[in-house]
Amino acid sequence: MTPADRVRALWYADGTLSIVDQRALPARTVVRRLRTVEAVADAIRTLAVRGAPTIGAAGAFGMAIAHRRGWAPARAAAFLGATRPTAHDLFVGIARVRAAWEAGADVDAAALAYRDEVVAECRAIGEAGARLFARRRRVLTHCNAGALATVEWGTALAPLRVARSRGARLFVWVDETRPLLQGARLTAWELAREGIPHAVIADNAAGHFLATGEVDAVIVGADRIARNGDFANKIGTYEKAVVARENGVPFYVAAPWATFDPAAATGRAIPVEERAGDEVATFAGRRVTPRRSPSRNPAFDVTPARFVTAFITPGGVVRPTDVAARLARRAARAGAPTPRRNRGAAAKGAADGSGSLRRPGSPRRSPRGRRPPAG
Ligand code: MRU
Repeated sequence: MTPADRVRALWYADGTLSIVDQRALPARTVVRRLRTVEAVADAIRTLAVRGAPTIGAAGAFGMAIAHRRGWAPARAAAFLGATRPTAHDLFVGIARVRAAWEAGADVDAAALAYRDEVVAECRAIGEAGARLFARRRRVLTHCNAGALATVEWGTALAPLRVARSRGARLFVWVDETRPLLQGARLTAWELAREGIPHAVIADNAAGHFLATGEVDAVIVGADRIARNGDFANKIGTYEKAVVARENGVPFYVAAPWATFDPAAATGRAIPVEERAGDEVATFAGRRVTPRRSPSRNPAFDVTPARFVTAFITPGGVVRPTDVAARLARRAARAGAPTPRRNRGAAAKGAADGSGSLRRPGSPRRSPRGRRPPAG
């Protein structure tokens, strides 16, 4: 696959954010041009653009558009931040550009630099995680944590892409990911484009394949990771993690640094978005439940750190018990008085924001399954 063939979720020039409308895939490739803050917010809210790193970049470009259109930075940040509460990356992307704006720096350049950082970190995740998949042939993933969700490369899909480019023979089990089918529609589309062997399975089938020994590893992305390693990802992730542990299958979480929320001590501090029940009550545009039956639709769940074998980050493979120390080291590097050549890193740390909606997580139970090895 050449760079020109690579999927790119969005691009920006001169006050226009162009996105691949992910609601139309795989049937049609529709590109939308967003020129107002309202249009960017609507695209994020409706999942035309989605996936934590991609909405972080969309938020950054939304701020650039707001700057051109005469918004106040605080109002633009609040408006864009009110679109989706769970993905920490959204708040980091917005805060980064807001800091540049308030410092009188070039706002477009700040948004483009944030986008470039997202892409570079996902590439680094691919390099860091590839060796874990050199011999683990059959891999299960949930939702879409590919290029569409991350601008380019992917988080969960990046190590698979790099491992494959180095000769690994991989097969990917793709959970369909009800209710919005990000796995069946988007992950399958990305894998099919690249000729990566895969099969889409009903969400309910993942436990079966884990129990019958047909999955060698699970890898997912994340929307927000707490200091203790608890993390939020697409609804259904938690049960995959528990069943993986029960069957001794390693469970990896791949994420860039913006997904880590240093302000969240545990998963209880992660806000879980609840979307309209209609997304559950309908399938392919048709209502499938009785009109009088209500539905509930949490978009994410929180998986306790004890079910995670390791996080794959741009800085390497990190065990859940090491997340807090790693974040503290990054904060110290960013915040400490630094020599002249490190001033950019200090400004970066100061600009990293955090969405701070708070909602309690689900109750904890102790694990019964076997703990798989990290590497
Ligand atoms: O509601 P979505 O489609 O934005 O949810 C996306 C996910 O849950 C992804 O798994 C997550 O953002 C990781 S993306 C690299």
